[in-house]
Amino acid sequence: MHNPRIISAEIVKTILEEKVFFSAMKAQIPEEHRAFVNALVLSSLRNLVALKKIMAKYVRKKIPHKHICAEYLLLLAINEILCMNTAPYAVINETVKNIRLKTDSFLAGMANAVLRKISANAEAEKTFLQKTSKLPDDFLLLLTESAYSAAEIQALSDTLTDIPPTDLSIKGIPSEWSKKLHGEIMPNGSIRLQFPEKIETLEGYLPGEWWIQDVSASLAVQTLGEIKNKSVVDLCAAPGGKTAQLLAAGADVTALDISENRLNTLEENMKRLGFNDNVNIINADAQNFLRHNTKEFDVVLLDAPCSATGTLRRHPEIIHIKSQADVKAQSLLQKELLHSAAEAVKKGGFLLYCVCSLSRFEGEWQIQTFLENHSEYKIVPISAKTISQYGSWENNPIMENGTVRTMPFYEKKRGGMDGFFISLMQRIY
Ligand SMILES: C[S@@+](CC[C@H](N)C(=O)[O-])C[C@H]1O[C@@H](n2cnc3c(N)ncnc32)[C@H](O)[C@@H]1O
Repeated sequence: MHNPRIISAEIVKTILEEKVFFSAMKAQIPEEHRAFVNALVLSSLRNLVALKKIMAKYVRKKIPHKHICAEYLLLLAINEILCMNTAPYAVINETVKNIRLKTDSFLAGMANAVLRKISANAEAEKTFLQKTSKLPDDFLLLLTESAYSAAEIQALSDTLTDIPPTDLSIKGIPSEWSKKLHGEIMPNGSIRLQFPEKIETLEGYLPGEWWIQDVSASLAVQTLGEIKNKSVVDLCAAPGGKTAQLLAAGADVTALDISENRLNTLEENMKRLGFNDNVNIINADAQNFLRHNTKEFDVVLLDAPCSATGTLRRHPEIIHIKSQADVKAQSLLQKELLHSAAEAVKKGGFLLYCVCSLSRFEGEWQIQTFLENHSEYKIVPISAKTISQYGSWENNPIMENGTVRTMPFYEKKRGGMDGFFISLMQRIY
């Protein structure tokens, strides 16, 4: 039986209990329910902290673990009533029926009473929900350990219910594509679409004129400036957003990734974009590759594996499944990768490091440690010109030392941007 509310509740339970990404489960959702389940799961994850507090006010007795699915069905129903404006009677009827089916009549009766009360108090609970921080305690700790201020943390929490726009990196002239796709040109030349229809049906998709890439992610390669015919190794390349930028700029690219599946996606993407003949694709662990590599590159790009906390608007499960322990584990791997990558850059060449993380342990402080241990490198201050050719940013992403830090609440008026850290470094000896 394919019941979309039961499917959604089981997905949220799996995400939280097994700490997995929603994207890993999307393929199992029946086509006819995909849009509803997607909306319900994402909205519930965005509001979960407050939903739990609201539920606790009405459900006094702990639901036994063997019937835990009733708790998830209830949380999702509260979300539908308060955050999705679904007609309460429909949500209540369906949820009570589903809880009876999955557990017993006692819990179904309890759910009926609870949801009716919440529905009657909907306006007060909506106000409570708006005032409550959306960030769980472990995630708050991750942010405070990175020395973010209370105001910055509040601003981050506020971005969670923003629906992120879709940004495109284009091969051609931004003004032409902004007209064709009715999009906005971002300061770096990305085209922003607020509510795109099916991506595959948009002009330019099939002939490979553009690819989806958050505006923040596209800044890293842009900081390199002119790279035509330069040798570049992209060490963590899949699914290939930055590889495509390097190829579009005429670089001689080796794209490497540890994941065969993700590299298959990269290969498909490069085929659609017409770049597949120009790129050397290698399935390998970057550490292993670098250990045996004897070639020195003009540029080494390390878009390192990270906590991905900068993408919390697109992947709200991150605030529930990532903690400072993940940051610590990832930052150790990044440190090793950086150390090995440094060897593969020719004298005078560049090491470009970036992460889609909010944690300074993976960003600012990682690079500070790297420079302390690698006196052969210096930061090349990123110039505003390279990333603002088409206008100015609402928030200047360039830090005092010339690195770039973006936050999800930057460019708020235009719809925000992912959190990213970027550092361009030159090997001086
Ligand atoms: C942030 S993603 C890269 C995104 C990509 N650069 C882009 O712009 O589309 C990090 C990638 O690192 C890969 N990865 C993780 N550990 C690795 C390793 N030891 N060696 C090579 N790739 C690795 C992951 O498979 C993942 O595809």
